[in-house]
Amino acid sequence: MSARVFTVAIDGPAAAGKGTIARAVAERFGFRHLDTGLLYRAVGARGGDPVVAARTLSPADLARADLRTAAAGQAASRVATIPAVREALTDFQRRFARQEGGAVLDGRDIGTVICPEAEVKLFVTASDEVRARRRWLELGGDEAEVLASLRERDSRDSARAAAPLKPATDAVILDTSAMSVDEAVARAIAEVERRLPAG
Ligand code: DC
Repeated sequence: MSARVFTVAIDGPAAAGKGTIARAVAERFGFRHLDTGLLYRAVGARGGDPVVAARTLSPADLARADLRTAAAGQAASRVATIPAVREALTDFQRRFARQEGGAVLDGRDIGTVICPEAEVKLFVTASDEVRARRRWLELGGDEAEVLASLRERDSRDSARAAAPLKPATDAVILDTSAMSVDEAVARAIAEVERRLPAG
């Protein structure tokens, strides 16, 4: 891959398969990958003033072992409603998106706010039940509670005024409800290939 700027924006609700698809696309094309949800999880997990946390986030914050828990996801979703938190994280994400060599970012607002100029925009989704089942297989616990928690997070992420979860008008919608991981990854790779400059 040449040193060209090329951004793949992957947005969608919780547990839709964004991370898996993003990692596979990054690996296939040799692009860098950023899981932007981790930034909000790290801000929520720090405690204290979330705006201060967002402005002073360090690599150590992103390396915490507890960022993947359901509690960290809820805390992330809450701090993500604060415009000053989002603003503090914007420059880093934009620079990452437009670095040379290609970048894949997954999140909620990559194609709408962080990088509206992204060459590829995917909105990865799946039914609530399918997503809850996947998250439950990953984290365990009570499946009904996993579903309720996921719905609560999605509705907060979609209803907020600042950069709400929604597909960009030019996003390709990928509903993975009835797809295997391999199938979803193949569809995403095909979308990137269609838009990569020749040569
Ligand atoms: O992708 P995730 O489940 O790790 O994200 C955790 C929360 O962070 C999510 O519920 C909302 C917030 N988030 C966001 O507001 N914008 C992003 N680009 C990524 C995540």
